[in-house]
Amino acid sequence: MTRTLPLIAVIPLVLAACTQPTPQSRGAHLYETNCASCHGKSAQGDGPLAKQYGMRPANLTLLSQKNGGVFPAEGVMAQINGYPGRHDFGGMPEFERELSGPTVPYTTTTGQVIDTKQAMIDIAAYLETVQQ
Ligand code: HEC
Repeated sequence: MTRTLPLIAVIPLVLAACTQPTPQSRGAHLYETNCASCHGKSAQGDGPLAKQYGMRPANLTLLSQKNGGVFPAEGVMAQINGYPGRHDFGGMPEFERELSGPTVPYTTTTGQVIDTKQAMIDIAAYLETVQQ
């Protein structure tokens, strides 16, 4: 009996840890809703809208490979945000307004602190997990 008690006490803690959303799990949901239609469930640029699009959506699992093995988190966020604004040419749409929710301070690789939508940080965190 004395042995089972601590286990019972630990179970709720483990369950809480499992159900607590991580940036990656929140990002996965945001990706599914906003990006998968073009970039595909697997993020390889093969979503159902990809064919009717003039421009092939990028394979988002190769972002690190194309950046010398380093995941370009800030580049991804800039792209989602609409910078450099290529959407006029039929490329990536801008998501700045679609992604609602709070803004948090984000420290860039150069040490700058920029107020950034938590949703963008989450999507970037998710995409980092699907790199090849
Ligand atoms: C309507 C279709 C469409 C949707 C929806 C879409 N994209 Fe894109 N995306 C594109 C196209 C087309 C390109 C390639 C052309 C370009 O770079 O503008 C692209 C390019 C990108 C790039 C640049 C990749 C590189 O190699 O530099 C990133 C990063 C990206 N998308 C992320 C996202 C994320 C994250 C979402 C969801 C928030 C999203 N996209 C939603 C069509 C889409």
